Amino acid sequence: MGRLEGKVVIVTGSASGIGAATAVRLGAEGATVVGFDATPHDDDIVLDVRDEAAVGAAVAGVAGDHGRIDALVNAAGVAGGGPVHLVDADEWDRIVDINLKGTFLTNKHVVAQMVDQEPDGLGQRGSIVNIASIEGLEGTEGGSAYNASKGGVVILTKNIALDYGRKGIRANCVCPGFIDTPMMMAVFDMGGMDDVRRSFVETHALGRIGRPEEIAAAALFLVSDDASFVSGTSLVVDGGYTAGHQHGIVEMMGLG
Ligand SMILES: NC(=O)c1ccc[n+]([C@@H]2O[C@H](COP(=O)([O-])OP(=O)(O)OC[C@H]3O[C@@H](n4cnc5c(N)ncnc54)[C@H](O)[C@@H]3O)[C@@H](O)[C@H]2O)c1
Repeated sequence: MGRLEGKVVIVTGSASGIGAATAVRLGAEGATVVGFDATPHDDDIVLDVRDEAAVGAAVAGVAGDHGRIDALVNAAGVAGGGPVHLVDADEWDRIVDINLKGTFLTNKHVVAQMVDQEPDGLGQRGSIVNIASIEGLEGTEGGSAYNASKGGVVILTKNIALDYGRKGIRANCVCPGFIDTPMMMAVFDMGGMDDVRRSFVETHALGRIGRPEEIAAAALFLVSDDASFVSGTSLVVDGGYTAGHQHGIVEMMGLG
């Protein structure tokens, strides 16, 4: 029997990368998964997470069809940024609106449904998992708009955990390191990025970037009853990217 048998879960960003891997993994664990994405994909509901009317109608539709919503994994997002004096204000708005306001809107409508449903045997009404980033916890050069949006997601999630904990709703972030998805590859494949790409890979203590399935596994944990006492946290899944700094000393000492 799967770990999510009988659960109903919405996954945003389900057409690609981390969201797609999460939808597959949660489905394999027995959940009924409904995907939301701006890009058409399988039976996913096509919507823009910035469109409150569309988000509200889609969430109400899932609740109507399935009777409840046990979890939301919010993975829709876009990359972008730059040193601030080079960032166009419209581009700032686009990134922050999709990554942060989109998170607010999906969380808002799913939480509104969760507070009105009966708790399960563990007293839980639902679990919210927002895919933030290690770039929402610490800076990366050139990150500006993206990093600000992800920092906003981290603190928004903590507030939701505080506001709804006594209603039996848990809210957590997953903060991935750099993951092999179309979003990341579009950045790495830009001209002149070979050295930057190598540097990013080497900065992970494990010496590689991650796979979408490794983030899906963390989202599964936070959705599942195994995480019944986990709320308000930011689960870093980054292959040691934020563990600290490496300067070649252990290599010098013979650890090749
Ligand atoms: N790939 C990484 O290295 C990495 C690292 C940390 C965090 N993240 C975060 O993980 C999440 C998933 O990223 P990914 O790497 O899988 O990217 P991806 O580009 O492969 O997938 C993102 C999905 O979001 C959808 N989307 C974008 N804008 C949307 C909108 N306005 N409304 C609805 N759907 C929209 C896209 O259509 C796409 O299917 C993002 O929030 C991203 O910021 C990614």
